[in-house]
Amino acid sequence: MNIAQLQQEILKLKQEKDVCILAHSYQAREICEIADFTGDSYKLSVDASKVKNKTILMCGVRFMAETCKILSPEKTVILAQPMAGCAMADQMDRVLISQVKEQYPNHTVVAYINTTAELKTICDVCVTSSSAVKIVNNIENKDILFIPDCNLGAFVAEQCPDKNIKLLNGGCPIHACVSPDEAKAAKERYPEAELLVHPECVPAVCAQADYVGSTSGIMNYAVNSDKKEFIIGTEISIAEHLQYMCPDKTFHILSLKLICPNMKATTLVDVYNCLAENGGEEIELDDETIRDAKRCIDEMIRLGD
Ligand code: 13P
Ligand code: SF4
Repeated sequence: MNIAQLQQEILKLKQEKDVCILAHSYQAREICEIADFTGDSYKLSVDASKVKNKTILMCGVRFMAETCKILSPEKTVILAQPMAGCAMADQMDRVLISQVKEQYPNHTVVAYINTTAELKTICDVCVTSSSAVKIVNNIENKDILFIPDCNLGAFVAEQCPDKNIKLLNGGCPIHACVSPDEAKAAKERYPEAELLVHPECVPAVCAQADYVGSTSGIMNYAVNSDKKEFIIGTEISIAEHLQYMCPDKTFHILSLKLICPNMKATTLVDVYNCLAENGGEEIELDDETIRDAKRCIDEMIRLGD
């Protein structure tokens, strides 16, 4: 089967089996094309909560599939590629953060959505990169413990000067690898281009950007801008998707390091195999984990509205 035939088979099977396919925007183009919903992690979590189908198939990483299960516990949620974790989400667990919380008993614990379901159970509110500034501003408490991403946390702290934000030493090894020198060199190579970066990049890269925002923030900025040329400082699929969406504009990638192996682990064949009941992993979480983790996701939706 070629790609188009495989896509046709997938579309047929997903209808027959009442499956909704969610794909994060870092997924390859051929996967986004057969998805019912695509977007950044915030949009996908809201979409997931409204899905009517019996089964949700997540093309993304494990914490995203867990979020779907927490929001729709009665549904069958399948992670298309069981090896697709998130290097940042795996950095901090419940035991570590329970100890840290003892040192900061009066802080509100804000967890980036890139955390495990187990860790979410002991946090107060979740955020995504697109909602973090708004949510932190909407929290009554001035004292915030922001986990795990110190780069996103530093960006939020800059935008929320009234808050006292404590950061830990976590982050995305993909985005954080881009150096300030690479950003400078890219700007020199493409002097007409605007630099758009994800806040998971280090502050010295963000400081050189014309725009700092989430995956969908970057996409919306580029689509709606009058400018014709951009350097994209997030996973390279975003530059590819934008190039298809805006053929009259030019998109450069900021760095070859911006390839997330976890996000790229899912293939169209994985999706087909899941629908043929021959692959993927069903996400199973116990009732207590779902109940406790849901509090912090519900709080995200409430404060981010
Ligand atoms: P978004 O919240 O922008 O979708 O980012 C998710 C992610 O994993 C970024 O690396
Ligand atoms: Fe996790 Fe970074 Fe990959 Fe996003 S890009 S899924 S934060 S490892």
